[in-house]
Amino acid sequence: MERSTQGPMAARSWLLLLLGLAGVLRVRGQRAPDSTGFVSIDCGLPEQAGGYVDAATKLPYVPDGGYTDAGTNHNISPEYIKPSSSKRYLNVRSFPGVARSCYTLPSTVARGSKYLLRATFMYGNYDGLNRLPVFDLHLGVNFWRTVNITKADTPQLAEIIAVVPDESVQVCLVDTGSGTPFISALDLRPVRDTLYPQANATQALVLVDRTNFGVSGAALVRYPEDPYDRVWIPWSEIDSNEWTEISTTEKVKELADPRFNAPSAVMQAAITPRNGSRSASSRTIELSWDAAPSHAYPDPGVIGIVYFAELEAVAGGDVRQFETHLNGKLWSKAPFTPQHLVCDAFFNSEAHRGFGGHYNITLNATANSTLLPTINAAEFFSVVSTANVATDAKDVAAMAAINAKYEVKKNWAGDPCAPKTLVWDGLNCSYAISMPPRITRLNMSFGGLSGGIPTHFANLKAIKYLTNS
Ligand SMILES: *[C@@H]1O[C@H](CO)[C@@H](O)[C@H](O)[C@H]1NC(C)=O
Ligand SMILES: *[C@@H]1O[C@H](CO)[C@@H](O)[C@H](O)[C@H]1NC(C)=O
Ligand SMILES: *[C@@H]1O[C@H](CO)[C@@H](O)[C@H](O)[C@H]1NC(C)=O
Ligand SMILES: *[C@@H]1O[C@H](CO)[C@@H](O)[C@H](O)[C@H]1NC(C)=O
Ligand SMILES: *[C@@H]1O[C@H](CO)[C@@H](O)[C@H](O)[C@H]1NC(C)=O
Ligand SMILES: *[C@@H]1O[C@H](CO)[C@@H](O)[C@H](O)[C@H]1NC(C)=O
Ligand SMILES: *[C@@H]1O[C@H](CO)[C@@H](O)[C@H](O)[C@H]1NC(C)=O
Ligand SMILES: *[C@@H]1O[C@H](CO)[C@@H](O)[C@H](O)[C@H]1NC(C)=O
Repeated sequence: MERSTQGPMAARSWLLLLLGLAGVLRVRGQRAPDSTGFVSIDCGLPEQAGGYVDAATKLPYVPDGGYTDAGTNHNISPEYIKPSSSKRYLNVRSFPGVARSCYTLPSTVARGSKYLLRATFMYGNYDGLNRLPVFDLHLGVNFWRTVNITKADTPQLAEIIAVVPDESVQVCLVDTGSGTPFISALDLRPVRDTLYPQANATQALVLVDRTNFGVSGAALVRYPEDPYDRVWIPWSEIDSNEWTEISTTEKVKELADPRFNAPSAVMQAAITPRNGSRSASSRTIELSWDAAPSHAYPDPGVIGIVYFAELEAVAGGDVRQFETHLNGKLWSKAPFTPQHLVCDAFFNSEAHRGFGGHYNITLNATANSTLLPTINAAEFFSVVSTANVATDAKDVAAMAAINAKYEVKKNWAGDPCAPKTLVWDGLNCSYAISMPPRITRLNMSFGGLSGGIPTHFANLKAIKYLTNS
């Protein structure tokens, strides 16, 4: 058995480091997404505080009042405030006593575009209860992941790469009876549509790990080095007996292949087995990770993307060539030789399943190779279905109007009919495969809907039955 990076990679997966220092610059009244199409929200920040520019990324963050009308604002407990704390983590919005609470974010590019969405959670005992909650996140009407807060002082991150079919997308926090959902920050970033081809109209990628090798002790790489503001976390638990870091100051170019890229700042460093180490004698690099199972996906399908570039000037007689194996099975069709200062990658197009959720990738030098393998960066995702479709848009609009008029304080948040487990109280819906659900019945006495029948009801076209007791 060769050295595995499993320990460090798995342990670090959800422990996002503090993303830079607090910024204090004010941006007055900024609400519309900026020219990048980014939406950056500091959840629980009072409206009157206004927005500010994040010191690390120079991105403008705004309060969340324009994106949700649910929940209440809280500050984290003073003992969790550190000088290095990002401003985003100082306050949260929490949603007590409701089944589902949602943020509505604009699709800033076009319908059907691809986005990276990132939610961050820093508990900080904001409620004084010292009870770490577990709750679910949904992207619109589809399960995204379970958020399991395991440390009060450590921000946790949830990220998904998904195609957004509509003009807006909802991020919903769902109470699963294990504590009150809360959120610290929410980011939406457009991603080039050809990137991550595994994310399509019916499937999204949930981040498990994104690692930058060869830069132990260095800072995170994100925007502006990464135009999509992916957060590349340095692999810092390097065992110097086992690995050597190699790097270059020269820029690493993007390959013409539009399906993947990693920023030059990430690709300019790599690791390789240290001469005399066990990995060197077996001429391999081995990575392993766990697929982050959830109640919705006990055996999630996984996608791996491993990034390479040759950073050294390879002498005439030398060759660096390796094979890749996934759980012991050949992954790459042909042996691979990284190109000098050009980013290249291996990835699987179809999700792998099985192996009890435990995966490993081996890069091993071929017999002809005079040099050992190298690796610059890696991303691991699990896949989730986004095949559930939202309720008929006209029905949604009619219900929104009714909700606004009557201010129904039941569980009327998120999509009225989907998912089935969260149908609005007092509604009945019909479901047909691949078709938007329709509202078929509305109980008027539910939630005190009384008085004259407003015109909005006439817009519920599929409705068969109105009860007005
Ligand atoms: C949350 O994490 C803790 C600690 O890892 C674990 O014991 C618990 O089972 C998890 N809860 C859920 C619902 O996943
Ligand atoms: C998305 O990708 C999955 C896996 O390759 C595939 O089964 C599915 O048909 C694709 N969906 C669309 C809409 O292309
Ligand atoms: C590895 O170490 C051995 C013994 O110390 C040495 O002879 C050899 O040249 C080294 N190889 C490389 C590639 O540095
Ligand atoms: C890699 O996966 C294979 C197949 O599941 C397994 O037999 C092997 O023990 C794994 N290696 C490590 C280091 O976990
Ligand atoms: C590379 O590793 C795999 C999995 O451990 C093994 O099956 C294969 O024989 C190795 N290939 C070489 C060339 O060492
Ligand atoms: C290894 O080198 C031999 C001799 O040059 C060649 O015939 C063979 O195709 C090479 N193997 C690979 C995998 O490149
Ligand atoms: C219709 O909705 C009511 C109230 O939400 C519920 O009790 C009932 O079971 C539903 N009927 C059907 C046929 O789903
Ligand atoms: C409508 O809602 C009221 C109030 O919750 C309830 O008493 C009644 O049984 C419901 N009617 C139907 C047909 O579900």
